[in-house]
Amino acid sequence: MNNTKNPKLNSSRPCVPERDSPVIQAQNIWKTFELGPERLEVLKGIDLIINSGEMVGLLGPSGSGKSTLLNILGTLDRPTAGSVILDSTALFDYSDVALSEIRNKKLGFVFQFHHLLPEFTVLENTIMPLLIAGLPTRAAVAKGMKVLGDINFLHRLRHKPAELSGGEKQKVAVARALVNEPLIILADEPTGNLDRSSSEMLLSLLKQLNETKGVTMLIVTHNEMVANFVHKRYYLRDGKLWETTGTSV
Ligand SMILES: Nc1ncnc2c1ncn2[C@@H]1O[C@H](COP(=O)(O)OP(=O)(O)O)[C@@H](O)[C@H]1O
Ligand SMILES: [Mg+2]
Repeated sequence: MNNTKNPKLNSSRPCVPERDSPVIQAQNIWKTFELGPERLEVLKGIDLIINSGEMVGLLGPSGSGKSTLLNILGTLDRPTAGSVILDSTALFDYSDVALSEIRNKKLGFVFQFHHLLPEFTVLENTIMPLLIAGLPTRAAVAKGMKVLGDINFLHRLRHKPAELSGGEKQKVAVARALVNEPLIILADEPTGNLDRSSSEMLLSLLKQLNETKGVTMLIVTHNEMVANFVHKRYYLRDGKLWETTGTSV
């Protein structure tokens, strides 16, 4: 077996690539959905590079294919054509089982809905990915405490999700996404369920994690407020990606 294609071997490498080196690259991504006789061409040749330490926004109207692209970058879906390179590894050469291992070790996800488990506490929800990966409880708790400290949430460790506000639940979802020290956080409409002030709080937190911890992230959203928080903005329209600098997209 070719060693470069074994995620187990690669996973022992440090999870912090050099600054300004590509963390993830999409190369000529196409995605077509077949709906009976109809073909829906959603992505038509997407190229994207996200470097270490970058905070990137992906905007575009509802239905433009933002989630489709994020899911492909995050190995939750496969493209019809094209490649995704994560940490110098071409992802779609792997089986689904190997991809899920790469996903658990190297990627962090935040979605519109927090998906916290209601019967577990903040700390238990945060360390769940580590426990599932087989880390001993004591080590998992230490990592969980560290990441909850980074987001100033140590005072709510034993609270259950129902006792938190919407914005606080999303903060815990961010902690859970960070606990594996992923190469990149992929966030799909992380403020989609929040009011304006909670959205601002969450985006400020993400920005702070980017600035102080160097966390690389892609934020997919139709919330134009995100423009104030990111280094680069892309706009998805007609299946193509456009880099944009204006405030109105
Ligand atoms: N699994 C699927 N099967 C068929 N069509 C899909 C599927 N997923 C998404 N689509 C379609 O692809 C288009 C883009 O969807 P999506 O990526 O969710 O857009 P966005 O996140 O920008 O709102 C939409 O027209 C949607 O209906
Ligand atoms: Mg979407």
